[in-house]
Amino acid sequence: MPIAKHFLEELRKRRETAEAGAGLDKMEARRKKGVMTARDRIQELYQSGTFQEWGKHAEHDCHHFGMEKKSLPADAVVTGVGLSDGRLVASFSQDFTVAGGSLGRIHAKKICDLMEYALKVGCPIVGFNDSGGARIQEGDDSLSGYGQVFFRNVLVSGVVPQIAIVAGPCAGGAAYSPALMDFIIMVKGTSNMFICGPEVIQAATGQKCTMDEIGSPAAHATVSGNIHFVAENDAHAVQITRKLLSFLPSNNVMDPPHQPTPQVDLSPDPGMNDLVPAGGKDPFDVTQVIARLVDNGDFLEVQHDWARNIVVGFARFQGIVTGIIANQPAVKAGTLDIDASDKAARFIRFCNVFNIPLVTLVDVPGFLPGVQQERGGIIRHGAKMLFAYAAATVPKITIILRKAYGGAYLAMCSADMGADVVYAWPTAEIAVMGAEGAVKILYKREIAAATDPKKKEAELVSEYRERFCSPYEAAAKAMITDVIEPSETRATICLALRNTLTKRETRPPKKHGTIPL
Ligand code: HXC
Repeated sequence: MPIAKHFLEELRKRRETAEAGAGLDKMEARRKKGVMTARDRIQELYQSGTFQEWGKHAEHDCHHFGMEKKSLPADAVVTGVGLSDGRLVASFSQDFTVAGGSLGRIHAKKICDLMEYALKVGCPIVGFNDSGGARIQEGDDSLSGYGQVFFRNVLVSGVVPQIAIVAGPCAGGAAYSPALMDFIIMVKGTSNMFICGPEVIQAATGQKCTMDEIGSPAAHATVSGNIHFVAENDAHAVQITRKLLSFLPSNNVMDPPHQPTPQVDLSPDPGMNDLVPAGGKDPFDVTQVIARLVDNGDFLEVQHDWARNIVVGFARFQGIVTGIIANQPAVKAGTLDIDASDKAARFIRFCNVFNIPLVTLVDVPGFLPGVQQERGGIIRHGAKMLFAYAAATVPKITIILRKAYGGAYLAMCSADMGADVVYAWPTAEIAVMGAEGAVKILYKREIAAATDPKKKEAELVSEYRERFCSPYEAAAKAMITDVIEPSETRATICLALRNTLTKRETRPPKKHGTIPL
């Protein structure tokens, strides 16, 4: 006996109503403004027809302030799982057309159920945030809902990758869900994120500011360092997400999606020998070196606009997924400062927890000198880098291009800090400090007494550099693995990656270390 028609009709009607959110007119109005709806965003992320929605028929269960008669389709959030570029991804997408995408009890439960599922099956989570925050009518139920979401953000952290797209407002405590995830992408023009807005800041402190200054994608990408990517629009945000996912394993017990070439190509790249100026103080753009080293010049830089004195991001070396950390001599002479240390340490820890090998390119004159740096806690922040590298058990390959001085040499993953192999170019200078500084301290009197102090100083600097800073000196002491021509760098890294992929390193059992946060 076939199913009675009215059952099917009711189902179809209910589906249509839920999918219409707060009305097709509101959805069209958004699209006209160039802003996607919650469901458009989901469609953009997934392969056609693969998204299985959960909780389409969910409704709020709030009985206050006249809400009894109001319907909130899907309780203002679309959740579900599907295939994105052939891999399972769980996602939620807040629907601003329904009660401003506000988070109530059922809305939170849908997100929590999804995160628990992602934990069970081991798949990444992508969250589209577009919400007025806690649903005011639901009072402390919505506060509790946020607490439950945060708890699960932490529960899944380090087990599956979490990517937050902030595609609309993300205000107050709500900002802490993206903040607890691994990567945040903000959409230009439509999004903002802040704990206290301009009005609250002015009321509390008298300070005047604009939303652009405190909550815009530009402010977070360049000043606060809270976010990792800025997207031009919703489609671009999804594009960045998919690119990011292409480098990440689905969970922490899987390898990243390596695509190893059948043979390791060891041919040299002669052009590399001329790319970097030999003079340690001459600036150059390290991203040009990276582009030349990695497959097809394809480098996904993370936090491009913040702490630009260090460059971090993902690439492949003959198919092997790698996290790259490189000093940027073109900015602040490539010194390590508070922000650069935070940026690198976080990236290193992400790579380690998701089994992504690390390649470190070193050209560092030291930690940035300055009162602000000292008073701001460069000791604590710099220690994060040392901690992150030393604690990382993934393959660690270090290439010293030019300067590698003092504590910053150690902070850039020296052999002592656990690098598996360290290669140096002939232009490398590995020293407790730069030759100029060392000579000034050691030979102050001799220089002053010389007939031509400048000449004397130059002679001493050159002698010191040759005797104490040369890569051959370091090689003689077995501090480095070998000295290589720049032209051999790509081949050396590719081979070293293949040779370290089976690395297994065990550490003393403990709950966790006490990284100096
Ligand atoms: C319930 C909300 C809401 C909320 C918006 N709406 N935010 N409903 N709870 N938090 C509703 C509006 O009433 C309106 O409903 C619809 O969503 C669209 O909102 P508009 O104000 O018309 O839109 P817009 O002008 O674009 O402004 C968007 C906005 C603004 C900037 C997000 O709505 C706003 O300031 N909302 C309140 C934000 C806020 O203070 N949140 C903090 C809550 S406490 P109708 O029916 O008219 O269409 C919090 C603490 C969490 O989040 C702590 C967790 C740790």
